[in-house]
Amino acid sequence: MPHLLPIEVLRRCLSHARHGFTIADARKPDLPLVYVNQAFEAMTGYSRDELIGRNCRLMQGTDRKQAGVKTIRAAREAGQPVRVTLRNYRKDGTLFWSDLSLTPLIDAQGVLTHYIGVQEDVTHQRREQARILRHQRQLQVLAERLMRTEAEERLKLACEVHDQVVQTLALCRMQLGELTRDLGGAVAPPALGAVCALVETALKESRGLMAQLSPPLLRELGLAAALQNLGEQQAQRFGITVRVCVEIGHKSVPEKVAQLVLRSAREFLINVGKHAGAQSVAVGLKLKAGELVLTVDDNGKGVRTRRQVETADGGFGLLSIRERVVHMGGGLKVSSRVGKGTRVVLRLPLVQKRWKA
Ligand SMILES: Nc1ncnc2c1ncn2[C@@H]1O[C@H](COP(=O)(O)OP(=O)(O)OP(=O)(O)O)[C@@H](O)[C@H]1O
Ligand SMILES: [Mg+2]
Repeated sequence: MPHLLPIEVLRRCLSHARHGFTIADARKPDLPLVYVNQAFEAMTGYSRDELIGRNCRLMQGTDRKQAGVKTIRAAREAGQPVRVTLRNYRKDGTLFWSDLSLTPLIDAQGVLTHYIGVQEDVTHQRREQARILRHQRQLQVLAERLMRTEAEERLKLACEVHDQVVQTLALCRMQLGELTRDLGGAVAPPALGAVCALVETALKESRGLMAQLSPPLLRELGLAAALQNLGEQQAQRFGITVRVCVEIGHKSVPEKVAQLVLRSAREFLINVGKHAGAQSVAVGLKLKAGELVLTVDDNGKGVRTRRQVETADGGFGLLSIRERVVHMGGGLKVSSRVGKGTRVVLRLPLVQKRWKA
């Protein structure tokens, strides 16, 4: 015979419990409450006398169209225990969120006799969750705005370089050409040849700078060619080997998705150049289960801690891309082994369900 606790000890345990505790009689019509503990009285503002004999639905008042209420009904029909979160109302009408576990009690003859309810007030947690969600949404909007502003600024700078520096250099080249022609057949002084060469170099560098600031438009090139172009630029910029392999056939990619893929590839490649100390990097783009998958694999020194790539402590590049990608229903994963390189995988669904902007 197992050692049974005296009923008085059990009663005192329940009355001192931190959670609200209720017992409803399942053999009587409309499941009246037959026990409530002090925590439940404190949580709801109702006294024991006001609660005993009444059904627990009193807590929801007229707010009965809740998913949790439906779930409880289904669980009761199936004779199963259930755990739900409900909007409840105190006696004074104030709302509180309750995490409720409801368990059917079956006696030795297999008859359902009672329902045991354990409730916790989770209003604070719900508010915190809502606050975090709100902040996440704000962060996503900010990340998007930042990306847009950056693209606009880059385009503006590229135009300035084109309209001022490149134009001035082109004029210099013309003047130098005239000067050379004016010499007739005479031998040009060596300095003139050197200046001509320097102007050519400056022109080439300015055009390179323009392309870096604002890569040729996606619309003109298409995603595959724009990625190739980006690979070549970054290879030159950082002196590393960049292999680009695009396997998306002729699948048309929505411009928003293509822009984000290109923007992300650019950030990942710059990260390789800045942080990895790698000799080579492979960029892959393919389609998998309705998603575009961009992979950037380097053979550099790897990432030391997860925190580096998951928080703003490291920098803002990956964070802003992650926010944007999640906003568009995708995901970003960075895996790495110290000394063995880093792999960044970005997934973006081609059909966007959650686009807001
Ligand atoms: N390919 C990589 N190899 C090694 N470390 C990397 C690589 N990519 C990212 N990291 C690490 O992750 C951190 C976060 O990257 P992130 O792009 O968010 O910031 P950042 O490049 O430092 O700064 P920002 O992008 O804001 O200019 C980096 O500071 C770096 O330590
Ligand atoms: Mg970065």
